[in-house]
Amino acid sequence: MKAVVLHKLGDAPHFEDFPDPTPMEGEALVNVKAASLNHVSKSRARGSHYDSYQQLPAVCGVDGVGVLEDGTRVFFGGCRPPYGTMSERTVAPKAWCGAVPEGINDLTAAALPNAALSSWLPLAYRAQLQQGETVLILGATGVAGKVAIQVAKNLGARRVVAAGRNEQLLQTLLNLGADAIISLSQSDQDLAKAFAQEASIHPFNIILDYVWGHPVEVLVTALTRHELMAEGSRIRLVSIGALAGPTASIPSAALRSSGLELYGSGGGSVSRKAIFETFPKMWTLASCGKLSIDVLPVPLADAEEIWDRQDTMGRRFVFVP
Ligand SMILES: NC(=O)c1ccc[n+]([C@@H]2O[C@H](COP(=O)([O-])OP(=O)(O)OC[C@H]3O[C@@H](n4cnc5c(N)ncnc54)[C@H](OP(=O)(O)O)[C@@H]3O)[C@@H](O)[C@H]2O)c1
Repeated sequence: MKAVVLHKLGDAPHFEDFPDPTPMEGEALVNVKAASLNHVSKSRARGSHYDSYQQLPAVCGVDGVGVLEDGTRVFFGGCRPPYGTMSERTVAPKAWCGAVPEGINDLTAAALPNAALSSWLPLAYRAQLQQGETVLILGATGVAGKVAIQVAKNLGARRVVAAGRNEQLLQTLLNLGADAIISLSQSDQDLAKAFAQEASIHPFNIILDYVWGHPVEVLVTALTRHELMAEGSRIRLVSIGALAGPTASIPSAALRSSGLELYGSGGGSVSRKAIFETFPKMWTLASCGKLSIDVLPVPLADAEEIWDRQDTMGRRFVFVP
């Protein structure tokens, strides 16, 4: 079969022949229809993800949509190494194959779960969003951030503040449901002022953070209070991604002077139960048009050419075998 195969961590993978998989006990053979090029797939291939490859060569891709031997169309993940989702066929644990409702096309079904769960799990399980709360999204111009705006609104946030660098894209987020936008492309002083100003009118209850690094340091500076007798309200900051830097320096004073609480959300910090009970709710919203993702289909054969490319309009590349 044809597959997108990685030979060395840090190199681009190649489109080439790879031995066909044979399912083992508890596994299903999947005929792949679509697999999205998300950051987890890229960082595993770079060797920078905490779940990078232990064994090479291996087929890339962590999730996708395919058809089982009995004809059921499923979203799937958890392929047994060295198999992955960016190939014509693969094997996945039956427990990680969930039926996709009709009416959601292959491209959307392949791309949506990674993006939607990235905000749904933090909001519903890690930060436990209450109806009417205010959510700030750092990295709202990204694929996952754009979906996060919609998820937050659907789950009951009253106000969503979207922060990102891409000015052109930032403006379009108001149409997606954002109530206010903050540019991350300004001086630290102006950015801290913009965060503080927004928070003084509508205090942030939850921060969904896709970027970490310096923007979080500026935000934390803005949230640090300077009144010993002040009463702080909870601000749940959930780290989801780290595209602006793997570390951020958080002064002790920030945690002591405000209601800032730090969380993370990803494989290893959320339960399987939470993931499995979220899928049907996500498909329901997508089916009735309340949750959408922008996708760009790409032939699987072009994977190597596309691998390091970044779309400037917040669309997800989806490989089609
Ligand atoms: N933990 C999870 O469950 C989970 C699930 C899905 C994704 N993620 C992670 O979430 C992150 C975002 O994913 P995505 O698919 O939305 O990526 P994406 O489409 O590439 O978007 C990246 C976002 O990060 C911003 N950004 C990148 N570098 C930045 C920097 N140096 N300073 C400030 N902002 C910066 C971009 O801003 P501009 O476009 O405005 O320049 C954009 O808003 C990735 O790290 C991904 O691995 C985590």
